[in-house]
Amino acid sequence: MNIKSFEEYREIYKQSEQDRLKFWEHEAGTFYWRKSWEKVHSGGFEKGDIKWFEGGKLNITENALDRHLNTIGNKTAFIFEPNHPDSFRRTITYRQLHEDVCRFANVLQEKGIEKGDRVCIYMAMTPELIISALACARIGAVHSIVFAGFSAQSLAERIQDCDAKMLITNDGLRRGDKHVPLKDISDEALESCPTVKNVIVCQRTNRDIDWKEGRDEWWHNLIRNASRNHKAVEMDAEDPLFILYTSGSTGKPKGVLHTCGGYMVYTSYTFRNVFQVQEEDVYWCTADAGWITGHSYIIYGPLFNGATGIIFEGTPTYPDPGRLWEVVEKYKVTHFYTAPTAIRALMSYDLKYVQKYDLSSLKVLGSVGEPINEEAWHWYDDHVGGGTCPIVDTWWQTETGGIMISPLAGVTPTKPGFATLPLPGIFPTLMDENGKEIEGNGVSGNLCIKHPWPGIARTVWGDHERYLKTYMSAYKGYYFTGDGCRRDPDGYYRITGRVDDVLNVSGHRLGTAEIENALDEHPNVVETAIVGYPHDIKGQGIYAFMICEKTPEDPKAFKKELHDLVTKIIGPIAKPDKIQITPGLPKTRSGKIMRRILRKVAADDLENVGDTSTLLDPSVVDDILKGEAY
Ligand code: WTA
Repeated sequence: MNIKSFEEYREIYKQSEQDRLKFWEHEAGTFYWRKSWEKVHSGGFEKGDIKWFEGGKLNITENALDRHLNTIGNKTAFIFEPNHPDSFRRTITYRQLHEDVCRFANVLQEKGIEKGDRVCIYMAMTPELIISALACARIGAVHSIVFAGFSAQSLAERIQDCDAKMLITNDGLRRGDKHVPLKDISDEALESCPTVKNVIVCQRTNRDIDWKEGRDEWWHNLIRNASRNHKAVEMDAEDPLFILYTSGSTGKPKGVLHTCGGYMVYTSYTFRNVFQVQEEDVYWCTADAGWITGHSYIIYGPLFNGATGIIFEGTPTYPDPGRLWEVVEKYKVTHFYTAPTAIRALMSYDLKYVQKYDLSSLKVLGSVGEPINEEAWHWYDDHVGGGTCPIVDTWWQTETGGIMISPLAGVTPTKPGFATLPLPGIFPTLMDENGKEIEGNGVSGNLCIKHPWPGIARTVWGDHERYLKTYMSAYKGYYFTGDGCRRDPDGYYRITGRVDDVLNVSGHRLGTAEIENALDEHPNVVETAIVGYPHDIKGQGIYAFMICEKTPEDPKAFKKELHDLVTKIIGPIAKPDKIQITPGLPKTRSGKIMRRILRKVAADDLENVGDTSTLLDPSVVDDILKGEAY
């Protein structure tokens, strides 16, 4: 059942406070379990031994697909909208999706993939990506989807980290007017990935590709003779479902692990209540399935609820900046969920691109991935929503599995820039510098969560210590989000952004250390410090301060070399926007870079650079202030 009114929200929130376990047990009871759980919940943040619905047996694809066959088998599960509006588009019913997933599950098993094996998926945003993920879930293999904008080296690192046995990819993809040769990139990555024995290639661009006999096989050949009957493998609620790599403050990206039962209950519950999607609605989340938003709110959450979703292969500005609205009009989209960066990008074009289309089908607008500034919020509200669609500003993270703080559409009164209130069963708190909870309203602090919820990540793949250190050690007994937050006089939450060394560039998470390490590979670079700075469209831009061996003769050519290097090591999303060459970096006596100072310089907030007396060499700051970025 959905929460229908603000009073009801308050009431249910109170009930969840009084008895968390009863609340979540009730939600879990709405699913099909082959065997019910023995214990609702055990473990906690301190040891990171969190379990939900332990002993319960299920396969989550039976809840996403099989369960719907007798009721809504002929309903559209997905509408596929290709990169170019004139290319082939198609719709897939729940029955067809079930059949495709069963066939591909049989293919995976024939190729020797078993429960617990890791399968890497590096694909275009097409139905086959989703079929691949669901087929893994059906046979109990752990999927690791890698965004198809990452480089060969990033792909290889992710495959190596989880010892994936198989890679599923495309020959290539088109994103806007760009072509990305996914198979070539995969071939390069696989040179250093001996664990991958099979590569399944799904045809998308029909370009020439290299072929490794014995390793590579075409999707269409394998699927042709596969049976459409498949008995889903029984999983324990706490068996792994997927790994998704995400950036942190330090080191390489970490493989966040989600498990079957809790993730299912949590994504389904949050999807239903936040978006309030009705039977006939058409829901469109514009994310890529390579990010958590795609996992939880394109694939899993909507399917558990029998919704009709759109799989969009394209970009907001191709062939022109009216593309998203053209799709809304074409399919009479009712629920539209995107990132502020897309809104800001589209705001910079003529309004005629929005006004040209009939957007009257829209009922609910969503925002995710980064703080939404008030200007973007109002533009979204006025020009897309026509002033009549509630905006759900949904705060959450890869690690939380699903939405944590958000208005419920049409239920929670909204305020521009505010994620508003926590969902029932979620207990946020703000912490002060001394590690104490800050009481009352009209306060700011670091955002923590008090009690485990079913969707929380259970570990970092292969490195439980890192999981404990990253999330559970800053405040004992709490989950630390890494975000700063304000609670206004009405008790509404406004997320102010990361307080650690993680950047949020166009809604993508990037670690400063990762980018620094990539740039340091350049022979002329001695040391780099990366900070974020306010950027009109990206939210945050990437600013690199760097010490060079010799001053580059041609700064433009040097910047291009650095861009190529970052593109090769990480991917184009991590290219620095600005580069400033400096004779030194501001370091404390213990050798730590004082990023606070660099952030002020990057933001052009030169009056507020603050105290520099604890620096090893305060004169460095003068040099930096005199310097210039290009
Ligand atoms: C940020 C994306 C403000 C935040 C689902 C968080 C947001 C990080 C919002 C997680 C929001 C996400 N308002 N900030 N509505 N949603 N963030 O793991 O800094 O890619 O910690 O998950 O994005 O990014 P991730």
